[in-house]
Order: sequence, then C-alpha cells, then structure tokens
Amino acid sequence: MIGTKIVAILALLAVTKAQQSSIDTILIRNDEYLNSHRRQYALNVWYYDVQMEQFRESYVKRVDDMEYQKDALLNELKNRDENLYSLTLLSDFSKTCVEKYKPSMPVAADVKNQVDRCTDTAHYKTDNLIYTMEVTNKTLQNHYDNVFEKEVSRCQSNYGTTKTANYTLCLANAVSVTNAFTQSSQQQFSNQLKNAYNTGRLEIKTLHECVFVVHNNTLTKMSQANTHIDRCIHGMDDCAQCSKHFCRNVYNMAASSIDPNSPTMYNPFQGQSETGECLMLNIY
Ligand SMILES: *[C@@H]1O[C@H](CO)[C@@H](O)[C@H](O)[C@H]1NC(C)=O
Ligand SMILES: *[C@@H]1O[C@H](CO)[C@@H](O)[C@H](O)[C@H]1NC(C)=O
Ligand SMILES: *[C@@H]1O[C@H](CO)[C@@H](O)[C@H](O)[C@H]1NC(C)=O
Repeated sequence: MIGTKIVAILALLAVTKAQQSSIDTILIRNDEYLNSHRRQYALNVWYYDVQMEQFRESYVKRVDDMEYQKDALLNELKNRDENLYSLTLLSDFSKTCVEKYKPSMPVAADVKNQVDRCTDTAHYKTDNLIYTMEVTNKTLQNHYDNVFEKEVSRCQSNYGTTKTANYTLCLANAVSVTNAFTQSSQQQFSNQLKNAYNTGRLEIKTLHECVFVVHNNTLTKMSQANTHIDRCIHGMDDCAQCSKHFCRNVYNMAASSIDPNSPTMYNPFQGQSETGECLMLNIY
C-alpha cells in the first residue's frame, strides 16, 4: 500500500515536472520568437538610418563639387590680376588704362561670396530634404518601443504565467499588427526617399544655375574690362563717360612730348585747313 502511494506520488511529481518543462519550453520558444522579431525591428530602423545617411552624403557631395568650379573661377581672376599688374609695369600709359578700368573688374572676394551664397543655400536644404524620413524613422521606432512592447507586456501580464496557448496567440497578434505597421512605414519611407532624390536633383539644378549666373557675370565683366583696357592701350578708348562729348577728331600724343614747363608745345592744328568742333588728345 505504502509502496503504491509512493509510486503514485512519484508519478504525480513526474507529471507535474513534465508539465512545468513543457510550459518552460513554450515560454522559451515565445522569447525566441519575440527576440527574433525585435532583432528584425532594430534592423529595419538601422536600414532607415543607412539610407538617410547615403542620401545625405550623395547630396552634400554634389553641393561640395561646386567648390572646384569656384576655385577654377578664382584662379582665373588671380591670373587676370597678375596680367594686369604686368601691364601696369609696361608703361605709364598702360598703367593709366589699367587703373581706369580695374574698378570694373570683378573682385575675387565678391565672387567667392556669391558662389558661397549659392552653395550655402543648397546646404541649408539638406535637413529639409531628410526631415520627413526622420519623422517616419522616429514613428517606427516609437511604434516598436511603445505600441509593440506595451502589447507584449500586456500579453505577459494577462496570459504569460499559465495560459500558454492564449499567450502565444496574443504575442503573434502583437507581431502581426507591428509587421503591418512596419510594411506601411517602409512603403512611406521609400516614397519619401524617392521624393528626396527628386527634390535633391532640383536643388542641385538650382545650385548649378545660381553658380552659372555668377560665372557668367564674372567672365562677362572680366572680358568687358579686358576689352576696354585693350582698346585704351591701343588708343581707341571709347570713353563711355564722355559719350555726350564724343569727338571724332582724335590726336595721338606721346606722353613724353608733353612738357609742362614749355610755353610752346607741338601744335596739332598746324597745316590743317579746318579746326573742326573739337579735338580729343589721346596721350599715350
Ligand atoms: C532613426 O531612429 C533611431 C532610433 O530612434 C535613431 O537612433 C536615429 O538617430 C534615427 N536616425 C535619424 C537619421 O534620425
Ligand atoms: C483563451 O482563449 C480561448 C479561445 O479564444 C478563450 O475561450 C479563453 O477564454 C481564453 N482564456 C483566457 C484566460 O482569456
Ligand atoms: C551673361 O551675363 C551677361 C552680363 O551680366 C548677360 O548680359 C547675359 O545675358 C548672360 N548670359 C546668359 C546666358 O545668362
């Protein structure tokens, strides 16, 4: 009798043990199930980060590429300045021509500021371009941290101790809701990324146009000033400021022939039958 009792108790113990271990196994499986999803969720947010970073880098790089164009333009100006300087050494006359038209030459510091303004504007747009994706990123992370984890805790407190089948069901449900949320978030993110690339392209186009205007204005002004200086040096200065007093009659006179101390200098009218209305002296 005692023997069967002992056997019965042992058998009961064994059954309880078996039940306990099957509950443990299910709990462990549930934990693995949850953790594998948590890893996937962390990966999703990480991949958002990677894509945003790639976008930011490629955009910023395209903006920074404009630096090379700026440097090329500034070099052009520097070379021009050196050429002008050598012209001022050539003769007093060429120096006068250079000094007269140098103020209309673009100034390197201004040109640099203008290009910088173009690139600064493009740089400021970077955060705007990424903003909606950041919100999507935050929203998804928030769903994982708050909605999903809260639901998991609720499952645990409602069913986690004994009702294993219902617990598993509850977790599976939380996962499926979160997966659906993730899918729609990824769809949204992918559209936002596409838009960011499109808008980014437009911003870069605007940047190129902005820099082009600076280039064109600078090169146009440089070439105009060069032409003026050139004409001036060749005695063909068309004297824009004195166009009201335009004089067809130009007399070229070497600066060396001018002597401020002489009461009798060379007479440009000598031997002419007409005096005309005016006479312009081109002193070279
Ligand atoms: C995306 O969200 C994660 C988690 O909140 C955060 O660590 C990361 O900085 C976010 N990325 C960006 C670019 O905002
Ligand atoms: C577990 O789920 C079953 C089937 O949905 C239900 O009938 C039962 O009431 C649930 N148990 C608890 C404790 O909620
Ligand atoms: C270049 O600049 C000049 C002078 O600023 C302007 O007259 C000309 O229209 C510009 N050319 C283009 C293609 O924008």
